[in-house]
Amino acid sequence: MKQSKVTVIGAGNVGATAAQRLAEKNIANVVMLDVMGGIAAGKALDLMEARPVELHDRTIFGGDDYSLSKDSDVVLMTAGLARKPGMSRDDLLAKNAQIVSTCIEEAYKYSPNAIFIVVSNPVDAMTQLTHQILSAKGVPNNKIIGMAGVLDSSRMAFFIAEALDVSVRNIQPCVLGGHGDDMVPIARYTTVAGIPLPELLSSEKVAEIIKRTQNGGIEIVNLLQTGSAFYAPASSSVEMIDAILHDKKQILPCSCYLSGQYGVSGVFVGVPAKLGVNGIEEILELKLTAQELTELKASSESVRKNVARMQELINNAAAA
Ligand code: 2OP
Repeated sequence: MKQSKVTVIGAGNVGATAAQRLAEKNIANVVMLDVMGGIAAGKALDLMEARPVELHDRTIFGGDDYSLSKDSDVVLMTAGLARKPGMSRDDLLAKNAQIVSTCIEEAYKYSPNAIFIVVSNPVDAMTQLTHQILSAKGVPNNKIIGMAGVLDSSRMAFFIAEALDVSVRNIQPCVLGGHGDDMVPIARYTTVAGIPLPELLSSEKVAEIIKRTQNGGIEIVNLLQTGSAFYAPASSSVEMIDAILHDKKQILPCSCYLSGQYGVSGVFVGVPAKLGVNGIEEILELKLTAQELTELKASSESVRKNVARMQELINNAAAA
């Protein structure tokens, strides 16, 4: 039986942790690529040497040669600079745009039929950039996805489970919007064993959890001082890949190209999406209140502004 193949671009913390989980959970064979080919090859070999202990059957290879990635089913784009304290996700825009375009162009050459999942920040803008590159080559919108909603929802679920002292398994969180400070956690659609969150926690506590979710990334950056979160981002990426490769039809919040859903068009924003073997198989439209819709549109506008600024920076660099 043909094994699924995932190329992870970037052998940093997110990439290497995703590679480890993909292999150790027996989800796919992995190729890890990095401009620092030795780091990718070294981490891949190290992970392979753990195989007799971990007892999985997947292979992990690493290097800097994109031909290793040939015929991947999924390409996970993690390369890019990570945030440092005091740095917003947006500060990363120009540098990461350059990195993402180079890597996506190369990866596409070897895996034109892959599904592309983008993690590099600012993720919604980087996914839009990936879309600009790939849609020009005929890749459909359903095969280009940004990873953020699973991470933001997972953070929210953890905070709720902690506050209520219940299992994380009981929490069904709901976070919409861009992966920025104005993301839109929706308490009304967040349930605990089927019970809407506002029935279980005071509005002050709900507001506190929403704020902490919105600041989830920077909370980790401030603690680490030398980088940003990677365990939860890697887990979130792997959950999406697993849903795709096993055609689970799992509904997960993803950054998707919207064309009219929620009254938003032409921009990547986090919404619930059904993930299966074709990538995004359906975008679900929740019934939102006027206030929630206003917040979602504001978050979409932040992404749109970021994309416009990214375009400006790309044009300036090209003109220089
Ligand atoms: C985060 O929220 C890195 O954006 C990522 O932690």
